[in-house]
Amino acid sequence: MATHTNEDYQDRGYWENRYQTEDSYEWCCDVSQWSKLFSEVVANNSRILVLGCGNSSMSADLYHLGYTQIVNVDYSPSVIANMQKKYENLAGMEWHTMDMFDLNFETSTFDCVLEKCTLEVLFVKEKDPWNPSDESVKQLELLMQQISKVLRPGGYFISVSFTQPHFRLPLLRSVCPTWSIRHDVFGDAFHYFFYTCEKPVSHTA
Ligand SMILES: C[S@@+](CC[C@H](N)C(=O)[O-])C[C@H]1O[C@@H](n2cnc3c(N)ncnc32)[C@H](O)[C@@H]1O
Repeated sequence: MATHTNEDYQDRGYWENRYQTEDSYEWCCDVSQWSKLFSEVVANNSRILVLGCGNSSMSADLYHLGYTQIVNVDYSPSVIANMQKKYENLAGMEWHTMDMFDLNFETSTFDCVLEKCTLEVLFVKEKDPWNPSDESVKQLELLMQQISKVLRPGGYFISVSFTQPHFRLPLLRSVCPTWSIRHDVFGDAFHYFFYTCEKPVSHTA
């Protein structure tokens, strides 16, 4: 693969190009490392939306654990076509080419919105993680508005990430002040983070 910089991760063309040849890549960690945390908050019969699914086996792994109502979106048409073909035997699993900043679903459709290492792409141009730019914070705010729109009241936004809580929590709490937000740590040699963000039951936005 040609050399690239972290900033390319915000470029749709970069991903589209990459997925024309790459079959699978798992960012950060696999489902077996956090499935117990997930099952503590998300029931098997939940309707789940996965943001920026890429070519990870995450959704298929969850499916095999009993989560059979999963809708996946990514803005790369190639990866969606590849994943649709690869997992055509998983009845009920959906794949859509869609920008996560423009989620084309009915209001309150999902019990859970899940992402792994997709939120990170919003911050790849940052020079100082302690002081994210207004632009990145605005992007996060816009994304959380989309997530809030499609998530039912009392539903969960779950973010599986390598971004440490001292960077991620203040940001999430600043853009979602009324949500209940907590995190768990997992991993042995290297630590990863499981952020659980509960949309308030009385949320009006
Ligand atoms: C770092 S990869 C993570 C892939 C996968 N979630 C994983 O854990 O292996 C980020 C993914 O987000 C997708 N993506 C980035 N921006 C997006 C956007 N605005 N809308 C939809 N997908 C996006 C990219 O195409 C890429 O597949």
